[in-house]
Amino acid sequence: MTSSHCFGRLAGIALAVFLFAGFAAATGMALVPEAAAQQAGQVPGNTLGTSSDSDFWRQVRQGQQGQVSIPDARAGVMIQSEGDNWRAFRNGPLSLYGAWALLGILILLSLFFILRGRIKVEHGLSGKLIERFNSVERFAHWLTATSFVVLALTGLNVLYGRYALLPVIGPDAFSAITIAGKYLHNYIAFAFMVGVVMMFVLWVKHNIPNRLDLVWLAKAGGLFTKGVHPSSKKFNAGQKVIFWSVILGGVSISASGIALLFPFELHMFGKTFAVLNMFGANLPADLTVMQEMQLSQLWHSIVGLALIVIIIAHIYIGSIGMEGAFDAMGSGMVDENWAKEHHDLWVEEVQARQASAGSD
Ligand code: HEM
Repeated sequence: MTSSHCFGRLAGIALAVFLFAGFAAATGMALVPEAAAQQAGQVPGNTLGTSSDSDFWRQVRQGQQGQVSIPDARAGVMIQSEGDNWRAFRNGPLSLYGAWALLGILILLSLFFILRGRIKVEHGLSGKLIERFNSVERFAHWLTATSFVVLALTGLNVLYGRYALLPVIGPDAFSAITIAGKYLHNYIAFAFMVGVVMMFVLWVKHNIPNRLDLVWLAKAGGLFTKGVHPSSKKFNAGQKVIFWSVILGGVSISASGIALLFPFELHMFGKTFAVLNMFGANLPADLTVMQEMQLSQLWHSIVGLALIVIIIAHIYIGSIGMEGAFDAMGSGMVDENWAKEHHDLWVEEVQARQASAGSD
């Protein structure tokens, strides 16, 4: 390379540096590396300046609201780690133990049927009928029962359909069934709520626990022993357990269902936890709206599964499990011998009422 060539190159580089320096000065760009320009406590890039501190990022990581200036509380949550825990619990232990509970009750009832058989009217049918439930009571029962069965089937489809139904019927049919099921579930829930309120009003006075219930429970209601019929009024202890499960479970599942139906509106878990904390519990009462939704979903499923297990046993004993039982809710009339064996004190009350009405 000649010396004139070399000089030309150096002059070119010097001109480029000079032009760049002029451009940088004109646009305010610093010619020193950025890090060197920082003051202590600043972050690279100076995006948040000294307001970028570890507390801020910890709060973001923990899903706290209000860390960004987005007015919508839901969008204002930047990271929602609880979503992982919720999904893992729903698709893990909840689904698994729920399935075992459903299978368990079916196995238990099958064993009971094999060992005990159908519980018979031991004194045979008398042919005399006695009214057990009037038409309003039967309407309340069947309104609750039919709506519950639809809710149970469509609810189970949401939890287990993708494992149990989808592989069998394929995605198109599964999608159609699940969309229809969702609408049925959302609207029929209101019929169930009406039924639960009606049953409560009609039957609460017969379901107050008393001393007789302890004797009935001690003898397991005579369910496992032929010839044993512990005394009972209109409802025995076993039926009271069913009644209160349906009422308390029904109210609880309805409340969590309404929270799911109207997302982000209700904050029942935070409020409930705050009340429980007054009694010594140590639960997180300051929940985000997302956590409220997750807990509502989990609670709704847990109560739903528990109720389904209990009601399967109820349906068994009210139909194939016991001779003469279904008539009580079918026609409303039961055989007098059935009534005397299972509800002796109630029969006495009815006959005493009839006698006093006849003598008036
Ligand atoms: C779908 C099938 C069902 C059948 C065959 C059935 C049958 C019966 C029968 C026969 C009785 C009267 C028992 C008696 O005379 O002492 C009864 C009562 C009752 N049923 Fe049902 N039931 C069914 C579903 C349901 C459902 C889904 C619920 C609630 C979610 C329910 C809640 C009740 C309650 C609270 C009572 C009164 C307490 C008791 O007898 O256990 N039933 N049912």
